[in-house]
Amino acid sequence: MQLFNSARNYGAIPQALHWLTVVLVAVAWALGVFGDVLPKGAPRESGLFVHATAGIVILALLVVRLVWRLADPSPPSEVTEFATWMGKWQDPAARVAHYVLYALLFAVPVVGIVLQFARGDALLLFGISEIASPWTKDRVFAHNVKEVHELLAHALVVLAALHAAAALIHHWIFRDRTLMRMLPHSDN
Ligand code: HEM
Ligand code: HEM
Repeated sequence: MQLFNSARNYGAIPQALHWLTVVLVAVAWALGVFGDVLPKGAPRESGLFVHATAGIVILALLVVRLVWRLADPSPPSEVTEFATWMGKWQDPAARVAHYVLYALLFAVPVVGIVLQFARGDALLLFGISEIASPWTKDRVFAHNVKEVHELLAHALVVLAALHAAAALIHHWIFRDRTLMRMLPHSDN
């Protein structure tokens, strides 16, 4: 198993960071959108705790990922039929999408934390420690922050879906290695 990126593949560590983030974003988004289906009281509070914890872990993984990326650059994009079809747009389009995904992976949890504080609530850190809100509860501010948090969260999921669709188009239509190199396999 190759831990680091090579010229042809993402290494096992960047792959693990990518797919763990995907799972956590799915969990956080589903709990954000459907959390109020849970009965009020302890179940709903637990849902919000898991939601916020997933968000905090996403932030931590993002930091690891960006540091890793500086030390171990991503493989260059594949020169493929898709690249020919997209002309000079493919590389910049993928790059911009990746940068915006990184920006949203930062902004969504940070605004979520601001929302928690705007409600005057403490931020629980894995249930072992907590950071008290620096502010008193402010309903209007909290409402506005919730709107921003929701909008950014939906933008993250929509962009990730387009990004996933692009990966599947590479795989199924243009039959290149773009998706395979983000998946565990033996060819290094
Ligand atoms: C990438 C990570 C996250 C995603 C995708 C996400 C997504 C969402 C979504 C879609 C909602 C529903 C908004 C609505 O229906 O109005 C929501 C609500 C909320 N989120 Fe997040 N969120 C994330 C991280 C966080 C973090 C780190 C916190 C910090 C505590 C947080 C705190 C909240 C709170 C307090 C609510 C309101 C819940 C309620 O009113 O029942 N979120 N989030
Ligand atoms: C929340 C969901 C997702 C997020 C936030 C996300 C984010 C990212 C980011 C930031 C990169 C750039 C990695 C780098 O720095 O080089 C990347 C690469 C990649 N992602 Fe995702 N991703 C998500 C879901 C998916 C899904 C569902 C698929 C597949 C169906 C996928 C397939 C890929 C592939 C193949 C690459 C490598 C692209 C290349 O080599 O140019 N991603 N992803």
